[in-house]
Amino acid sequence: MERLLSTRARTTTSSTIRDLLKLLEQPDVLSLAGGLPAAETFPVARMREAAQRVLGEAGTYGSAALQYGPTEGVAALREWVAAVLPNAMPEQALITTGSQQGLDLVFHALVDPGDAVVVEAPSYVGALQALEATSPELVMIPMDGDGLRVDVLAAQLRAGLRPKCLYTVPNFQNPTGATLSYERRVELAALADRYGFLVVEDDPYGVLRFRGSRVPLMRTMTEHAVTLGTVSKLLAPGLRVGWVVGPEWLFGSLVKLKQARDLHTSSLSQHVAADVLSDETFMSGHLARLPGVYRTRADALYTSMTEAFGERLQMVAPDGGMFLWGRFDGLDTNAWLQRAVRERVAFVPGTSFHRGEGRGRDEARFSFATLTPAQLAEAVGRLRAAA
Ligand SMILES: Cc1ncc(COP(=O)(O)O)c(C=O)c1O
Repeated sequence: MERLLSTRARTTTSSTIRDLLKLLEQPDVLSLAGGLPAAETFPVARMREAAQRVLGEAGTYGSAALQYGPTEGVAALREWVAAVLPNAMPEQALITTGSQQGLDLVFHALVDPGDAVVVEAPSYVGALQALEATSPELVMIPMDGDGLRVDVLAAQLRAGLRPKCLYTVPNFQNPTGATLSYERRVELAALADRYGFLVVEDDPYGVLRFRGSRVPLMRTMTEHAVTLGTVSKLLAPGLRVGWVVGPEWLFGSLVKLKQARDLHTSSLSQHVAADVLSDETFMSGHLARLPGVYRTRADALYTSMTEAFGERLQMVAPDGGMFLWGRFDGLDTNAWLQRAVRERVAFVPGTSFHRGEGRGRDEARFSFATLTPAQLAEAVGRLRAAA
C-alpha cells in the first residue's frame, strides 16, 4: 500500500540525528549527539505556579487557556515578544508552535520549487528539512569562525545569483557554535537591501551567551529581515512556543499557512509562557543563572577535546550556545561514529549538516549541554579510544 504515499511523504528525509537518538536511549551511553537543553535549567517551580494561576484564577485568564484562540497568538505573549525584540510591534509577532514551525511557515510563504535559497554550510538540519519540502535550489555558502562568508556570497550575487531568501543562525550557530560578526551583519544587510532578498534570522541560542558582548540582530540593520525566536532554550522546549516577527507584506501569508496547519499554538502553553516571561524579577534571576551552566560544560568539553586530539583537531571555543564543532585531520567521522557507539558514546558526523557528496566528512558536532563536566571528560576518553 506504500504506493498510496505522496511524493512528498516518500521523499522527505528523516533527520539522522533523530534516528540516532532512538538508538541512544540506554542509560550507559554518553550522548554528545542530541540538541537537548540542560533539563536542570527548566524553571519547573515557576512554571507550576504559572499553570496554577492560569488554570485557577478565573478573573485573570477566564477559561481562555483552555479555549480556542486567535491564530496570531495570545496578546500578552505577542506584546512580550515586541518588547524584547528591537523594531518590533505586537501586530507583527506571530506565535508559532516552536520556531521549527516558524521555519516551515516562512519557507512555504517564500519559496516556489526551483527558487534559489542561500543557507550556511554547515546548517541546522531541521531548517534544511523544512526548506527541502519546498524543493528549492539550495546554495550553500561556507562559514568560518566569524560565521557566514559574506564575501563569498557577495561574489556569487555579483555573478548573477538572485536568491529569494537567506537562512542564518546568527548567534552560536547550530552546528558550528560560530557567531556572525557585527561587520559581516552590516555587509549582509546591505546585500539584502541591494539585491532584494529576505534574511531569515533564527535566534534560539542568543540567550545562552556566556562570554563576550551581544551583537545586534540583523533586523536592526535592514527591513529585509524576518526574525525567529523560541522559549525552547530560554524556558523549556516542551512548551512548543516560538515566534516569527517579519515585515507586514509577509505576515498575512504566514497566518493563513498556520491556520491550515494547526489553527493556533496551544493556548495553555502560551498563557503559561506569557505568565513566566512577563515576571521581570523571576526572569532577570533566571537569565543571570542560565548561561553559567553552559559555560562550565563548554569549557570542560573544549579542554578535554583539545587535550585528547591535539594537533589533529581544529576547534574554536564558543562564546555561547550548546555546541562544539571540530574538524579532524584524516578521520572519517561517519566510520568513527560506528566505533564510538560500540564504546557507548555518540556525536553527530558533519555530513548530516551539509548537502553534497562527501562534504563535512572529517567534521563533527558535539553537544555539551546535557552532561556534567565529569561525564564530558569520560565521553572524550571513549571518543579517543574509538578514533
Ligand atoms: C537553529 C535552530 N532553530 C530552530 C530550532 C527548533 O527549535 P524549537 O522548534 O524548539 O523552537 C532548533 C532546535 O534545535 C535549532 O537548533
